[in-house]
Formats: sequence, C-alpha cells, structure tokens
Amino acid sequence: MSLANEGAAKARKHAYAVAPAATMVIFGAGGDLTKRLVTPALYNLVLGGMLADDFSIIGVDIADLTDESWRKSLSDTIHSFVGQKGVEFEAKSIDPKAWQWLANRMMYMKGDFANPKTFEQLGQKLKSKEGDKGGNRLFYLAVADRFFGPLIEQLGAAGLTKESDGAWRRVVVEKPFGHDLKSAKALNSQILGVLDESQIYRIDHFLGKETVQNIMMLRFGNVAFESLWNRDHIDHVQISAIETVGVEQRGGFYDHAGALRDMVPNHLFQLLAVAAMEPPVSFDADAVRAEKSKVLQAVHHFDREGALRDSVRGQYDAGEVGGQKANAYRAEPQVDPQSNTETYIAAKLMIDNWRWGGVPFYIRTGKHLAARRTEIVIQFRTPPFTLFRQTGTESLPANQLVLRIQPDDGISLEFNAKVPGPQVVPKTVGMEFRYKDYFSETPGTGYEILLYDCMCGDATLFQRADFVEAGWAVVQPILDAWSSKKPVFPNYASGSFGPKDADALLARDGRAWRNIS
Ligand code: BG6
Repeated sequence: MSLANEGAAKARKHAYAVAPAATMVIFGAGGDLTKRLVTPALYNLVLGGMLADDFSIIGVDIADLTDESWRKSLSDTIHSFVGQKGVEFEAKSIDPKAWQWLANRMMYMKGDFANPKTFEQLGQKLKSKEGDKGGNRLFYLAVADRFFGPLIEQLGAAGLTKESDGAWRRVVVEKPFGHDLKSAKALNSQILGVLDESQIYRIDHFLGKETVQNIMMLRFGNVAFESLWNRDHIDHVQISAIETVGVEQRGGFYDHAGALRDMVPNHLFQLLAVAAMEPPVSFDADAVRAEKSKVLQAVHHFDREGALRDSVRGQYDAGEVGGQKANAYRAEPQVDPQSNTETYIAAKLMIDNWRWGGVPFYIRTGKHLAARRTEIVIQFRTPPFTLFRQTGTESLPANQLVLRIQPDDGISLEFNAKVPGPQVVPKTVGMEFRYKDYFSETPGTGYEILLYDCMCGDATLFQRADFVEAGWAVVQPILDAWSSKKPVFPNYASGSFGPKDADALLARDGRAWRNIS
C-alpha cells in the first residue's frame, strides 16, 4: 500500500475519501503564501491520505529555479517550522516519507504571468502529463491581487480552463478580492467572462477554521441555542478579531489596504454571516451561501453622517506588546512616515431583517493590541429586575455566550448563580467547553480543508460573487466617509485595547466591550 493509500485507509474511518486526482498549478510558487501555508497544508493532506496517487504540482514563478531548487526551498521552509509555537504550521517533526511523496510530485516552471508564451508552455506541460485521457486542473493564484484578472484571462485565452470529458478546471483566488465595491464588481465581471461561477473558489481562510464551521453546528444542531437566537432574547452581538502582531514585513501591501479592507468585508463578515444567517435548507454549497449573502444584503448601508458616527478608526503608536518595545505604525518598514492608513476599525452595524431588527452588531479588529483573540459574544437581554429590588443587588449582569475562535477554541456560557449564604447575592459563573478536552487536536493551517474541498468540488467554504459584493457594499460608505475627513493619527498605543472612541461607541448605547485579558 502506498503511503497515501495507507493514510487513506485511516482517513476513511473518519469518512474522508481520497480527493480526485488532479494537477495543481501554483502561480506564485516562490512566494511566502506557497511556502508557509499552501505547501504545509498539502503535506498535512498527504499525512491524512487525502491526496490521490496521481496528484501532482506544477509551480510557476518568475524566479530562475529548477525542480530541485524549488523543492529544496519548500523543504527548508517546512522544516524551519519544526518545534516552533505560534507559527502558521506547528509540527513536532516532518515525516520524511510523506514529504518525499509530495516532493516527488513537484515540478517547477519559470514563467512571466504577463507573457502568453508562459501559458502555451504550461498547456504543453499539462498535456504531456495528462496524456490523451485529460485530467483535472486546479489553478491556485498565490499572487498579488493585480494579477488575478489578467492571469485568469491568459488561462482562458490559452484554453486551459475549458472543461471537457468530465474533467474539471477550477481556480482558487486569494484575497484581497477587490479594493472597493467598484473594483470587486469589475474583477467579478472580468473573471466571470472567462469562467463559470462554479469554477471559481474565492478563498477566505477564516472559513477553514474548524471553530468557524462549528458555529453552524452550535446553532442548527441544538434546540437550546437556536430558539433564543433572535431579537426577542439577544441584546447585541460583538465580533472581535484582535491581534498582537503589527504589520510585520507587509507594510507595502498594508499601507494601501488598511484594517477595514484587510479584515472586514471578508473575515469579519464571514463571522457575522455564520452568526446571523437563517438556517439553510441543506449543507449544499449554494443553499448555505445563499443564506449568508442574504443576511449580508440586509446589513444597513450608512450615509456619510451615519458612517462617521458609527465607525471608529485607529492607528497604533509606539508602545509595548507582550513585554517587548513596539514600533509606531508610521515607523514600520515600507510604510509612509505620514501614513493615515488605519490599523484598527470598530463599527456598529444593524441588520434590517425580522430576526435582527434593533440588535446592534459591534465589530472590531486591530493590530498591536494587548491580546490576541478572535471571538463572537452573544449578549442576551437582562431579566426584569423587580425580584431583586429588595435584595441589595445593584445590577444583574446579562448572560453571555462566547464563541472563541482562537486561541483556546471553545464556547462558554456565562450566567448568574446565587452565592451560598443567607442573602440573595448573584455572581456570574461560567460553563465551559474547550475543543481540546473533547477532540484530539488536528494541527493545521486552515488551508487543508479548503484545498481538499476544492478538489472535491465542494464550494461551501468559499465566497460566492454575491457575498463579496454585498460585503463591499456595506464597507464602501465607510471608505467614502473616511476619505472625506482626515483622521488624527496615531491614536492608540501599541499594547493597548485600541482607541478610546471604540469604547465610546458602545458606552453611548450603555454597553461595553467584553473584557479580554
Ligand atoms: C489575513 C490578514 O487575511 O488574516 C492579516 O491579511 C491578518 O492582516 C490575518 O493578520 C489574520 O488571520 P489569523 O488566521 O491569524 O487570525
């Protein structure tokens, strides 16, 4: 039995089938994404026995590499992760047999993405590999976003994306998908001129996170929660993705993007959608994605005044993060020293539908903050106080259901219990579920399931065109309002919890962000 088949036998016990055989073409083969996420994810799929024996990879990039030197650079990177904590890919060791299995299937092709000859040559390479019987092709665009449209057009012009004889051609498009509503629409129409929607897999790596996928199970697989999941019982929802990292070496990209574009229309809106969507009629990709798009389309669009009132932007100053001195954003490499790009965004969003009318969704994300935490907090309404009036109790905290995406993935429910003794004194206590207490940890990059699903033709965890456009339509008025008013930056210290105005945004409504320590 080959290594993949041995693994496949194990995997089948967990109901995983081996993915259909395919050639994966990675554009941007020499880039960081390929080295740090895509290759480790493929390696994990090999370990799980989820890749077919006939699977192979062609890496395309401008650098002058050979098959050998490309494999070596990937091998160096994956081995450099061993024993490290808090990196994209955590491993105690690299299984030499599994790595060799993958490395043997890797070929490199030097090519300029703007030159039609590259695609002719790629076509010949694919044909010689596939022979007359043809074969499935997965094109992975691990390249800067300016290449997405032109690259897909080149693939189309060379006839490489045409599906025939039951063989599929799929294209994985990385983020950012557009820079604003207009460019996202233009990119959709450009690539839909070449491909059918069913061939396009727009990645959002948050959807690869088990804990995000589990939100649907929590809501729709349990009567206890879903029956309370509406404006009759819920006071408000908080969605936070706060980070301790700064922009690191990504200043060149980030300074043109900012926190709003980088995190909100994609990651934060995926969290909002799974938390707020209506139950789909099945787990079928289109059924799930239709509900997600619908809820995003129901998010209220700001006018200028509303956008300025209900959104907060921030940029980090120097400070200390985790005991280490931290730069101001304007002092980061490849960042304009006068930059007015935001590294923090908070906003209050309203969803105009029957389930959520009147329930604010507060979202926030930022860099160089005091802690790393991605979570959704469902805050329930407070009970009537009458009963407690005579007891000396000053207030009765509201119940909170906290869905922790990372770190320490889990779910906790906070509620009030009576402190033992003669008096009626409430105290908030918690019921706690931690993934690691129930399930063995399957360390992964989050890309494993996405690559596997793409090969299996399951687009549930990918963004459909209408979702992307609905997301940008919400964000666009904020971008417009911000561009009309210069911010006063920097306005929060590295290592703090963000700008004061973000606290004021909730305080104004008599609410506060959940404490994150
Ligand atoms: C990326 C953003 O898409 O997501 C980064 O570009 C951000 O700026 C990252 O740090 C967060 O992802 P994760 O998985 O580390 O929470």
